[in-house]
Amino acid sequence: MRFAGRVALITGAGSGIGRACALRLAAEGAAVVIADVNARSAEETARLVTKEHGSALAVPADVSDEPAVRSMMTRTLEAFGRLDVLHNNAAVLSRDVYGRDLDLTDMDVDVWDRTFQVSLRGAMLCVKHAVPHMGPGAAIVNTSSVSALVGDTDHAAYGSAKAALVSFTRYVATMYGDRGIRCNAIAPGLVLTDIARHVMTTDMLAEKAAERLLPDPCEPEDVAALVAFLASSEARCITGQTIVIDGGTTAHRPEHAIRKASALDPWAACGRDGRPGHTPPSGRYLR
Ligand SMILES: NC(=O)c1ccc[n+]([C@@H]2O[C@H](COP(=O)([O-])OP(=O)(O)OC[C@H]3O[C@@H](n4cnc5c(N)ncnc54)[C@H](O)[C@@H]3O)[C@@H](O)[C@H]2O)c1
Repeated sequence: MRFAGRVALITGAGSGIGRACALRLAAEGAAVVIADVNARSAEETARLVTKEHGSALAVPADVSDEPAVRSMMTRTLEAFGRLDVLHNNAAVLSRDVYGRDLDLTDMDVDVWDRTFQVSLRGAMLCVKHAVPHMGPGAAIVNTSSVSALVGDTDHAAYGSAKAALVSFTRYVATMYGDRGIRCNAIAPGLVLTDIARHVMTTDMLAEKAAERLLPDPCEPEDVAALVAFLASSEARCITGQTIVIDGGTTAHRPEHAIRKASALDPWAACGRDGRPGHTPPSGRYLR
């Protein structure tokens, strides 16, 4: 019960990783505020938390909208009287934004702007309105991505916003460290949320498996365990860091994945002339 008597606010907690984090922190004693632009999914997470563990408050809010963030903090304090953990987790992964974050020469600037508004401006607004109510021992966790750390042939807006979040994490840690407030980021690779399972084909999953060092894919609960650790006093000496959680996908040279794929399908490794002809995994599905 590392969070007994503590209050945690998680953005984008209506589904996926955010929902798993809400359930995990609540299971360890926290009262949780479930903030999401999707009111119905926020209510559903709050219902699950209340059914299984205890106190939850669903707050529909667009984190890129300052009045909405201000009112989210007011409601948090009215309901629970304090704030100990802020998890900036919301991001737009919808078809009309993330799905159109493709070649830069065709980039609709609204896609670029909306991606940054939610991931970066949203995190900034939440920090702006949360920190005045946080005391020593409080923790902020930002959800970045391995897309912040590697290049790719699409999702430049997403990867750049997530990279900015890594830098933002260091600034927040530096600004408020002397108040005893810590700030860290997590950088997940592919996490098998319900949505990810739905959109990924068998081939995509096989490609991701070849890219990983470990056999098993990450589940939302694996990420929640890391967030709970970083938010807890067990991580009291860790701040300003970005922790990668990707089964080793970004820990090795690309050749390793090619060799691994070749071992699964030896013919794929050879072109007609016997030289390696296998196309390296593109990393297109890193998120
Ligand atoms: N699933 C992965 O493979 C993966 C990998 C790396 C990083 N991430 C990151 O993890 C976080 C959670 O992603 P997920 O996979 O659970 O996706 P998800 O789509 O299930 O969750 C994102 C949530 O954010 C909410 N949201 C969107 N815009 C918002 C806004 N303006 N204000 C408030 N809430 C908003 C959505 O309604 C949704 O509930 C995101 O930051 C994502 O970039 C996910």
